[in-house]
Amino acid sequence: MAEILIVADRDAAGELAARVVWEYLDGVPEPVLGVATGSTPEPLYRELARTRGGRDLSRLRAFALDEYVGLPAGHPESYREVLRREIVEPLGLDPQHVHVPPADAASLPHAGERYEAEIAAAGGVGLQILGIGSDGHVGFNEPGSSLASRTRVKTLTEQTRRDNARFFDSIDDVPRHCVTQGLGTIRDARHLLLLAFGAQKAQAVAAALEGPLSASIPGSIVQLHPHVTVILDEDAASGLGHADYYRDVARFKPEWQGW
Ligand code: F6R
Repeated sequence: MAEILIVADRDAAGELAARVVWEYLDGVPEPVLGVATGSTPEPLYRELARTRGGRDLSRLRAFALDEYVGLPAGHPESYREVLRREIVEPLGLDPQHVHVPPADAASLPHAGERYEAEIAAAGGVGLQILGIGSDGHVGFNEPGSSLASRTRVKTLTEQTRRDNARFFDSIDDVPRHCVTQGLGTIRDARHLLLLAFGAQKAQAVAAALEGPLSASIPGSIVQLHPHVTVILDEDAASGLGHADYYRDVARFKPEWQGW
């Protein structure tokens, strides 16, 4: 069962998520962090930058969940650029240690195997930050993705392209394809930290956490994982049937337990 924490708003979620991330980063000598992009992790990344203190994070290795296919190198909405702005510079990471799935035309035929090999060579992901799409996707594993899938090229749904059009001049500029870690790849991370905010995520969150395990709701893979922390704001939690129980679990969480 995932540990589900419901907080007032995104800022409170960012603070709590940062505590989870620091507990991991401060606790292992060779941390490997899986990083999401999009709006959801922004309060977390801001809070990490604010609370970093004197930590030297140049040894931290990070792996992005996904990358768009077809954007020119340096495009501001390519996830490599987003990560440069949101974590590499603010946290003082070594850009050589921040990996993004290869998504240029020449790399595509072997992109999945190559990325999986890079993750394996780093010793696997210790803590994986996740958002969830309004259609239930995690990474860009759209509904119908195999629960055992590995990194590969996927086609984005129209709903995801509409949702992400806010980052582009028009929906026509949103790529149709991406390279994404698979659901099997994500499940291999030792700890999953799923964040979701806003009423537009409530249905996907309820389906992923309380509905049946199903390829139709890729986020439901969290039910298969032994170590999951979920942090939601009130709006994203509004569709949950057992919210009062989750609040009790959080209120009576033993101090020794850690994240
Ligand atoms: C991004 C990713 C996606 C997003 C999801 C939610 O790397 O893998 O699964 O987490 O699309 O996007 P936002 O956070 O923009 O609502």
